[in-house]
Amino acid sequence: MILLYILSFIVILSKAQESLAFCDEYIEFDLDYFGKFISNAKLSNSTDAILAEKRVLIIDQELNLLSSVSIPKTQTHDCLWIFKQSSDVFFVGCQKNGEAPYLIAYKSINETHYSQFGNIVYFPNINETVIRVIGVQNTLFTIQSKKVTLFTLVWSASDWSIKTTQNVFDKNYFARTAEINITDLAFEPYSQDNLQYYKLIVVEFKLGAFWVDTLVKNNILSPFRTGLIYMPNEFSSNVQYNSAVIHSTTQNASYISFTLFDNGYADVSIKAVYVTTSTTTITNNYNYKGPWASWGPPIKFGNLQGILRRNTLKQSIFNVYNIVIPVAQNENTLTVTSYDPVDTFTSPPQDYPIYYFNPGYRVVHSIENNKLQSCDLYNYKIQME
Ligand SMILES: *[C@@H]1O[C@H](CO)[C@@H](O)[C@H](O)[C@H]1NC(C)=O
Ligand SMILES: *[C@@H]1O[C@H](CO)[C@@H](O)[C@H](O)[C@H]1NC(C)=O
Ligand SMILES: *[C@@H]1O[C@H](CO)[C@@H](O)[C@H](O)[C@H]1NC(C)=O
Ligand SMILES: *[C@@H]1O[C@H](CO)[C@@H](O)[C@H](O)[C@H]1NC(C)=O
Ligand SMILES: *[C@@H]1O[C@H](CO)[C@@H](O)[C@H](O)[C@H]1NC(C)=O
Repeated sequence: MILLYILSFIVILSKAQESLAFCDEYIEFDLDYFGKFISNAKLSNSTDAILAEKRVLIIDQELNLLSSVSIPKTQTHDCLWIFKQSSDVFFVGCQKNGEAPYLIAYKSINETHYSQFGNIVYFPNINETVIRVIGVQNTLFTIQSKKVTLFTLVWSASDWSIKTTQNVFDKNYFARTAEINITDLAFEPYSQDNLQYYKLIVVEFKLGAFWVDTLVKNNILSPFRTGLIYMPNEFSSNVQYNSAVIHSTTQNASYISFTLFDNGYADVSIKAVYVTTSTTTITNNYNYKGPWASWGPPIKFGNLQGILRRNTLKQSIFNVYNIVIPVAQNENTLTVTSYDPVDTFTSPPQDYPIYYFNPGYRVVHSIENNKLQSCDLYNYKIQME
């Protein structure tokens, strides 16, 4: 079995060779000083943050190291999450298995340097394992399998804190009788009548997803209605939903791509039309084919859909699909189309693959635990010519 995997990997690698010529030389970062790479966040069009075990690296599009900051983590906690909160603040999130997760805030000093702002802050009343922590504006979310809890960030001149709210998305909130199994959360802003909203998509293992509309007031998201995107009617009831990205959304319709748990190695993109809170219609638009099961959330950049796939040996393949997903409106109807990847990037075994798009149709991906490489989307560019 293992031999088969290695053989198929070599075949895939050699198929990808043609595009390797369009990659820059990889850059190796000091493993002892930074630790293994874990995750990343885009800070601006020209800067990215890479979360490593010991430090956060700030790099530019050419992968030059601009600066780095240390992570004041305790020996027992793992820091797995990084997200941008505003134009000059990003957070790192850590947790110890089964205990309270906490956040560290970093504020920009100038375009290239950041420094820690305030102290480590624990999420109040959450002393359990979380799947992920994420935030947008002054709202933070802890994602657990049975609930998503909303918190509020409170800022002062020299410090910050996390305040509890009344908002918990659990089976009662979604009006379900059976227990739910949340796997991820995705969000995207939209505006209507000069007001700003966020559409939240709470991915559920067997059902598909719940949608939640939230209104933004004083940079805080207030949920005001919800409904179910029931996928087993459109796909087989054996399909299990892993995570999602919203391509575009209005109040009444969204285009959403889902990665699935090991489902014959094809992921799906749907159009959801929110007819009423009790009726959401689904159209299956795109299927993304690939050689292995997807791993982690899909990522988007303009027309591009990126899906990371991984085998049991932790070798990874980043598949890039060229799809033109229309802006969400009620009128357009699409027929189901299956897509093969247009560009593919492979990596040897690593615990936490890093992969993101950069302007100019470039991809940055990690090879092994402390090397980054920037590559052209060569086949995509040829298709666009
Ligand atoms: C960043 O990129 C987006 C999309 O390409 C563009 O609309 C925006 O103006 C850019 N922002 C800056 C500060 O360059
Ligand atoms: C979380 O619970 C553990 C025991 O399960 C306890 O030792 C720890 O102090 C608690 N942490 C917080 C921040 O409440
Ligand atoms: C940004 O701030 C750092 C740290 O204070 C400093 O070393 C660096 O020179 C500054 N860069 C610019 C462009 O001002
Ligand atoms: C809940 O979802 C996780 C994936 O996040 C899965 O591994 C687990 O088996 C699911 N549990 C149930 C009871 O379906
Ligand atoms: C969205 O749907 C509601 C209810 O059907 C309707 O009143 C509203 O006009 C629709 N909004 C848009 C932007 O289509």
